[in-house]
Amino acid sequence: MDDQSVRRRVLILYGSETGQSEAISQQIHDQCDHHLEVLTDNFNISVERLCLDTIGDQYSLETEQTVVFVVSTTGEGEPPQNALKFYRKYRKRALPKSLLSHLRYCLLALGDTNYERFANFGKDLDKRLQELSAKKFYDTGFGDDAVGLELGVEPWIENLFTAVLNHFNAYSSLNVPIVDVKLLTPVEREMSAKDNCLLMQTTDERLSQLDQLNLPLIPSKFKSFQLKLHETLPEEYVDKCLPKEFYFQTLPVMDSKVFDATLVELRQLSTDSVADNDETDSRCDAKTIIEATMRIESEGEGGCSVGHEAGDSFGVIVGNYDEEVNQVLHSLDLSGKRDFYCEVLTPEVFPHLPKICKVYDLIKYYLELRSVPKKSCLRHLADFCDNPSQKRRLLELSSREGGEDYNRVVRNQFAGILDILQVFDSCRPPLDVLVANSPCFAPRYYSVCNAPDPLNRNQFKIAFSVTTFEETLLRKDTQLFGVFTGTLFRLLRHEVSAQGDSVDQCLAKLSLESNMKSFKAFKRKNPYFKLPSNVSIPIVMVGAGTGVAPFVGFLGQRQLVSKRSTVPAGECWLFYGCRHSRRDYIYERELKQYQSDKVLTQLYVCFSRESVDEKSPKYVQNLIQNHSTALYRLIDVRKAIVYVCGDLKGMATDVFNALVSVVETAGKQSRENAVKYVRELQSEKRYLQDIWT
Ligand SMILES: Cc1cc2nc3c(=O)[nH]c(=O)nc-3n(C[C@H](O)[C@H](O)[C@H](O)COP(=O)(O)OP(=O)(O)OC[C@H]3O[C@@H](n4cnc5c(N)ncnc54)[C@H](O)[C@@H]3O)c2cc1C
Ligand SMILES: Cc1cc2nc3c(=O)[nH]c(=O)nc-3n(C[C@H](O)[C@H](O)[C@H](O)COP(=O)(O)O)c2cc1C
Repeated sequence: MDDQSVRRRVLILYGSETGQSEAISQQIHDQCDHHLEVLTDNFNISVERLCLDTIGDQYSLETEQTVVFVVSTTGEGEPPQNALKFYRKYRKRALPKSLLSHLRYCLLALGDTNYERFANFGKDLDKRLQELSAKKFYDTGFGDDAVGLELGVEPWIENLFTAVLNHFNAYSSLNVPIVDVKLLTPVEREMSAKDNCLLMQTTDERLSQLDQLNLPLIPSKFKSFQLKLHETLPEEYVDKCLPKEFYFQTLPVMDSKVFDATLVELRQLSTDSVADNDETDSRCDAKTIIEATMRIESEGEGGCSVGHEAGDSFGVIVGNYDEEVNQVLHSLDLSGKRDFYCEVLTPEVFPHLPKICKVYDLIKYYLELRSVPKKSCLRHLADFCDNPSQKRRLLELSSREGGEDYNRVVRNQFAGILDILQVFDSCRPPLDVLVANSPCFAPRYYSVCNAPDPLNRNQFKIAFSVTTFEETLLRKDTQLFGVFTGTLFRLLRHEVSAQGDSVDQCLAKLSLESNMKSFKAFKRKNPYFKLPSNVSIPIVMVGAGTGVAPFVGFLGQRQLVSKRSTVPAGECWLFYGCRHSRRDYIYERELKQYQSDKVLTQLYVCFSRESVDEKSPKYVQNLIQNHSTALYRLIDVRKAIVYVCGDLKGMATDVFNALVSVVETAGKQSRENAVKYVRELQSEKRYLQDIWT
């Protein structure tokens, strides 16, 4: 490789399925701004950011000198959709071993340790780059969604720039910013000490004595972002069609346009209370599970039909709770301006935002209000604090020296922007600062649990358990629910009590025709988690908790297809685990009906909170092992496809290990070969997972 042809730039490449790696790569790019001056002035080096799949059109690794990769893993250890072109190009075995010997790189791999192959694409990419002789200039970092990405990501980013500058021998030219910070006067300190809120307290005495702190940079684009408020819709927008609510963001996982979905019916599937004399009654661990029926109203621009198959999932955007939006408006002194129009003057900075919309809608549908603010956000907010002790404390929490405090009182307490604004009540940031520092509201995904109905193609059902949070030291509200599941749960409660009933008189079923609720939604790509087109191929389904939901759709679809098929349907097994036979054994009636119709040929169920002794199966993995011989035969001889779906932590790994031991015992194979066997099932797409936490 001719040295002249190698590009003098730092290229940040991302591969992202749901947008996290993309956002982190943007964060890295923003933080480069500060160091950019050193790099451009002294070394004529620029910093750019691209998606992995722009390969060929906008970059080629053969002509790059320094690359920072930020990639996630999806499916069962696979690359994200927007990294596939890149992956296919560089995985070719025929490539010369010295192809990338000029390349210096580092890599941040995102994943989730609940999945069996943690950060697999990042690890594979790392290995492949080294096989092609590329050299690392900084250790690989990992972000684990199971514990919070920031835990691994933030320290990695913090040290990345030193590594980049070292790599260019530029470190000596850099002045690391240590900022002088005002110490509190004795009176101010006394006032601050009186305030005994957790966020205001430090356990590190030295921290409050420091007059110099290492503060994070506020990304320059956050400062350049501008909004303008208008009391009425500005003239130039008057004749334009403005939808009532907005959601324009395009994500790689989208398999349809964003459409309007109306909530038609809510049905509680779980049972809250059972007979008084039931000894298994233990209210505290009973999850509330709800089924929602949605109707697709409009199908976005182009009007193409959305439709669905069993195995699909939908992304739904419900927006923040109204009371939380109102609290933000109050904290920003905007309560009287909720219906003002908000015009984005710098649309290039955050292209996912609408050009104009109501202030209220912007906060409700675009900002993830519950997310834990980054240190750079706290640093930015400090600029808008009048009270010196509050300002000083925000600076401490954002500083490198205050890292421990930040973890203890912000991250570990899930302190959201609302908590911050409430405690630091002298902080009045303008709306554009809040918008710039809040991640974009994320869709929530749900697997479809009904087969497509040819007579009602526009209807889909989802089943979900209501997310509840434990009390934190900051929030004593025991009724704290997840945004989507809580909104629907409260709606169900409201409807039920409006009928003079109670949720406890459960299996509540109600029609929402009189009070229709509309959401934005889209279909999510999930190409492999589908039934085989040949109905004679046997299938084995393994579901835990609400993970049984897509299999109810599978059974409905299998029944429909079998009726039309000339060949007999293959075996169809379900291993299903939940907590209590009388509380959360959801779809019991439907499953038993499919069993008596011979659509479901084996139904094995276990109840984790009811198993009487060590021998009785507690979890699905125990059930699987109890049926090793027949199961192995079905997979090995009859070429069954195995589907795993669930919402339980560690479930993917436990089921994987159970299958390995089935192969070991029933297939009489060594542990090593059994692992290889199950991995091969995965690569042949005969072992498919749809796991969430
Ligand atoms: C492909 C896919 C399919 C899925 N299918 C289903 C399905 O069929 N059924 C189903 O039930 N779920 C499913 N899920 C999960 C679902 O998308 C949601 O994540 C889940 O329902 C929670 O959404 P929520 O808005 O109610 O909670 P959220 O508001 O998103 O709350 C959950 C988040 O809150 C944070 N948190 C934890 N503790 C606290 C605290 N004390 N205070 C504040 N925040 C806290 C956590 O970081 C967590 O990420 C699926 C997920 C995926 C990715
Ligand atoms: C459907 C799905 C499949 C996933 N599969 C894996 C996996 O096999 N291994 C892993 O480590 N993480 C897996 N994850 C977790 C993601 O890698 C993790 O959430 C990451 O932060 C997503 O980043 P992104 O938004 O840039 O794609 C999966 C997530 C989803 C939603």
